[in-house]
Amino acid sequence: MVPTNPMEKSSLFPSGTFLFLLLVLLNVSASVAAPTPESVYTSFLECLTNYTKAQDQVSNIVFAQTNASFSSVLQAYIRNARFNTTSTPKPLLVVTPSEDPHVQGAVICAKSIGIQLKIRSGGHDYEGISYVSDQPFIILDMFHFRNITVDVENEVAVVQAGATLGEVYYRIWEKSKVHGFPAGVCPTVGVGGHLSGGGYGNMLRKHGLSVDHVVDAKIVDVKGRILDKESMGEDLFWAIRGGGGASFGVILSYTVKLIPVPEVVTVFRIAKSLDQNESATELVLQWQQVAPHTDHRLFMRLLLQPVSSKVVKGQRTIRATVMALFLGGADEVVTLMGKEFPALGLSKENCTELSWIDSVLWWSNFDNTTKPDALLDRDLNSASFLKRKSDYVQNPISKKGLEGIWEKMIELGKTGFVFNPYGGKMSEVSSDATPFPHRAGNLFKIQYSVNWDDPGVELEKNFTSQAKMLYSYMTPFVSSDPRSAFLNYRDLDIGTNSFGKNSYEEGAVYGVKYFNDNFKRLVKIKTEVDPENFFRNEQSIPIHPGPDTGAIKSGAGKLLHLTLYWSVMVKVGWLFILELFI
Ligand SMILES: Cc1cc2nc3c(=O)[nH]c(=O)nc-3n(C[C@H](O)[C@H](O)[C@H](O)COP(=O)(O)OP(=O)(O)OC[C@H]3O[C@@H](n4cnc5c(N)ncnc54)[C@H](O)[C@@H]3O)c2cc1C
Ligand SMILES: *[C@@H]1O[C@H](CO)[C@@H](O)[C@H](O)[C@H]1NC(C)=O
Ligand SMILES: *[C@@H]1O[C@H](CO)[C@@H](O)[C@H](O)[C@H]1NC(C)=O
Ligand SMILES: *[C@@H]1O[C@H](CO)[C@@H](O)[C@H](O)[C@H]1NC(C)=O
Ligand SMILES: *[C@@H]1O[C@H](CO)[C@@H](O)[C@H](O)[C@H]1NC(C)=O
Ligand SMILES: *[C@@H]1O[C@H](CO)[C@@H](O)[C@H](O)[C@H]1NC(C)=O
Ligand SMILES: *[C@@H]1O[C@H](CO)[C@@H](O)[C@H](O)[C@H]1NC(C)=O
Ligand SMILES: *[C@@H]1O[C@H](CO)[C@@H](O)[C@H](O)[C@H]1NC(C)=O
Ligand SMILES: *[C@@H]1O[C@H](CO)[C@@H](O)[C@H](O)[C@H]1NC(C)=O
Repeated sequence: MVPTNPMEKSSLFPSGTFLFLLLVLLNVSASVAAPTPESVYTSFLECLTNYTKAQDQVSNIVFAQTNASFSSVLQAYIRNARFNTTSTPKPLLVVTPSEDPHVQGAVICAKSIGIQLKIRSGGHDYEGISYVSDQPFIILDMFHFRNITVDVENEVAVVQAGATLGEVYYRIWEKSKVHGFPAGVCPTVGVGGHLSGGGYGNMLRKHGLSVDHVVDAKIVDVKGRILDKESMGEDLFWAIRGGGGASFGVILSYTVKLIPVPEVVTVFRIAKSLDQNESATELVLQWQQVAPHTDHRLFMRLLLQPVSSKVVKGQRTIRATVMALFLGGADEVVTLMGKEFPALGLSKENCTELSWIDSVLWWSNFDNTTKPDALLDRDLNSASFLKRKSDYVQNPISKKGLEGIWEKMIELGKTGFVFNPYGGKMSEVSSDATPFPHRAGNLFKIQYSVNWDDPGVELEKNFTSQAKMLYSYMTPFVSSDPRSAFLNYRDLDIGTNSFGKNSYEEGAVYGVKYFNDNFKRLVKIKTEVDPENFFRNEQSIPIHPGPDTGAIKSGAGKLLHLTLYWSVMVKVGWLFILELFI
């Protein structure tokens, strides 16, 4: 396939008289306008009004840049302060649908105008790709889609995309004290991004991923149709359970199966640091042997952070913290750990027995007087500056290896790790059951994590490059060929596609890391359901390199077409004026 480069194409246009004729024939020069915020607002609103046949309603859901509420609507779901600066590209419009036809209309109208649509649910994307783009774009903000219907009798819940995980947990708890759902730890994360990207939390060893419990979904496809599991077919339903929703359509809701939780669960947190007798290294060595293999009801997250030493003033050291959820009582887990994990030194005093919903609050670091309704607080417009990366570990890291890692972390200064143990149910689900491929054979996933509080380009460069240096140092200890990564830990360092190109080759660079062998099937499905690549972003699934797939056919191409057309028309206009003088 020869890539169609629109710029080359423009130079192929013959000039002079032919263009003059072209102008006369097409007679459209006056109707072509470059996309300005005003023109996009006008044509979008007109189209949406047309589509929904309800004028007052739609003008209430479209926020233009000039609108007094534009900034607050935009900022409400920004969850990484790095993308909240004056230089961050802003959308031309924020569209906030409150019923299904608004979403259908938004897709149809964005497509007909030829403008990029970014879909945002909870806004927790680590790279902000749900609300930032370097091309003109519109945000489709799903925060009004927050209905949650829990049916305890049938043990299912219908959860709209803009609901938060905290709301999901709360609504289940309202109806039943012995049901829960296995999803992320942070209560403000949105269902739309979290579930479409896989979704995991502290019950993953017992119950697997969120997507292992999705039984139906409602989605708006590129043609503006609302599809459910049956009408979308097996392939698309497979793709939106871990392949990232934004490559395939707009998720309206997921139907999920609830899981049973015991009335009493146990949590504990144990910290040891390196300057206390090297005990941290022994702890991590044993953790690698135990955490991925122990009782499936036990999830022990390990946090590793460079901190100031409390023993030697002015010195830096590494602190290792084990945070755990056990789906059972304290006595049982204390006995188990005494046998399997002596380096942890777990005693009953270290454990807290509580209800499952209180364990959700504990994991979110609320104090123990907090009531469950705190989970309904969306905590809008608050975020620190952050960078995340991910890796998978398939062989335990040796003592020598760990010691080198500690040294590197201390040298770099701020970037920490979160090790999340796999095994259990994760090893029982086949790697192609969903697009999420990181199942049997993975001991644990690493999250690289660095947060900072102050704005500034230089500071950002320091911290993001620190994370990259640690990632590079870790190469010998983690998966390779491909070096796997977790889609929900969005990281644009591992590859992006370029606007207007969206080539298969570019997409394969990050696609194989996120999806391993499942990437091919995702590409096939994407090519079938969205052949013009309207649903795209910096790391979307590319379309297959077939004979007639070029930039000019893609959704991006449409905008390029418009721009190209505009520039040709300007040239034609000049020629026209020149000809008048000849
Ligand atoms: C504080 C914090 C804690 C986290 N903890 C966990 C965790 O415990 N476990 C875990 O697995 N992950 C975790 N994550 C990562 C999180 O799961 C992902 O960032 C997830 O994609 C967020 O979903 P969202 O709807 O909030 O994000 P958004 O930024 O709104 O969306 C993320 C991506 O999904 C797309 N998308 C969003 N909504 C839709 C929709 N309705 N239809 C189609 N596409 C859509 C967006 O376009 C974007 O590409 C955490 C993130 C943060 C910031
Ligand atoms: C709106 O609909 C009318 C008739 O249905 C059509 O003539 C017109 O072109 C449409 N306008 C837009 C902007 O879609
Ligand atoms: C801002 O936009 C909202 C939503 O479209 C609308 O309801 C409101 O009237 C607008 N306000 C102003 C001042 O234009
Ligand atoms: C949420 O549920 C209410 C009550 O049934 C309904 O009126 C509303 O339209 C629903 N919202 C969405 C976005 O579906
Ligand atoms: C765990 O309990 C022991 C007492 O059995 C106590 O000395 C220790 O400080 C506790 N550790 C933590 C982290 O609370
Ligand atoms: C340090 O480790 C040694 C040997 O394992 C042990 O005898 C000693 O009590 C430990 N000291 C502390 C403070 O834990
Ligand atoms: C809450 O925590 C405090 C200490 O932080 C403790 O004293 C108290 O017993 C705890 N209460 C409950 C109900 O666990
Ligand atoms: C974004 O910046 C504004 C100031 O411009 C600030 O008020 C707001 O709290 C910030 N929000 C986030 C999420 O960083
Ligand atoms: C960035 O890091 C360098 C050294 O790595 C340091 O000299 C510089 O002061 C740092 N800049 C900021 C803004 O922290």
